Amino acid sequence: MLKLEGVSKRYGDENTGVLAVRDLTFEIGEGEVVTVVGPSGCGKTTILKLMAGLLAPSSGAVTIDGRPLVKPPLEIALVFQDYSASLYPWMRVAENVRFPLDPKRVSSAEATGRVERALESVGLTRFADSYPWQLSGGMQQRVAIARGIAYQPKILLMDEPFGALDAQTRAELEDLVMRVRDEFGVTIVFVTHDIDESVYIADRVLIMGPRPTYVEQELVVGLPHPRDQITSKEDPSFAHLRGIVYRSIRESTQAMASVAKDPER
Ligand SMILES: Nc1ncnc2c1ncn2[C@@H]1O[C@H](COP(=O)(O)OP(=O)(O)O)[C@@H](O)[C@H]1O
Ligand SMILES: [Mg+2]
Repeated sequence: MLKLEGVSKRYGDENTGVLAVRDLTFEIGEGEVVTVVGPSGCGKTTILKLMAGLLAPSSGAVTIDGRPLVKPPLEIALVFQDYSASLYPWMRVAENVRFPLDPKRVSSAEATGRVERALESVGLTRFADSYPWQLSGGMQQRVAIARGIAYQPKILLMDEPFGALDAQTRAELEDLVMRVRDEFGVTIVFVTHDIDESVYIADRVLIMGPRPTYVEQELVVGLPHPRDQITSKEDPSFAHLRGIVYRSIRESTQAMASVAKDPER
């Protein structure tokens, strides 16, 4: 459904610029949860922006259902790590969730129904009339996810959405992501630098190499659904996959550190 073919992205010019992404080719299938994991600074956010049509590739092509992706397409919604910056403090929770629904495309009754269903799905029905700043960080990120759901995208792109949350909240939201996929059939691309998270929620893991990043390795996660924070993580195949991701990231991090020390290489 979403396809990258030979995609490279350079920031700045040929001589002084930074090559963030090099010759990327992969596909995301309908209804999949694909995680993208890699060391800090390798180019993960750049990949997500390319997939969202927020950045144009320097070479290669990004297509959605075979059409070139030219500007942010209607089929795609984004959830970022910084939930406090993505919600409007002067709007109530329900208004924040409703905001991206274009009245020219979605009737008022339809919008109301979508907002209710999305808030119910993330467990925030009781807080529809609250303001974002009255909620905890985890609840604010639930609002941002509800907004993504209500928009009914085909593809939900998430950039380290739970990076700023405590472990317990993070675990709850990981389970929420998998439930959202099952309930709404949405395709999810989830960027994270958290190794356990990258395996736990994924059907497939793309392990990214050091910058300029590329797909170092691809893992298929066969853990049964529904997953559970305790039993899934006790499964020997979880430990095995986690080890593969861990080793790869450790090598990439070392490679990036030695390049930083010796930029001539
Ligand atoms: N707008 C930009 N201009 C110049 N360089 C950038 C820009 N955005 C990111 N970069 C550089 O591209 C590389 C990859 O960044 P990013 O995609 O944010 O990595 P990640 O999300 O994996 O941490 C980094 O070296 C970063 O400094
Ligand atoms: Mg990033």
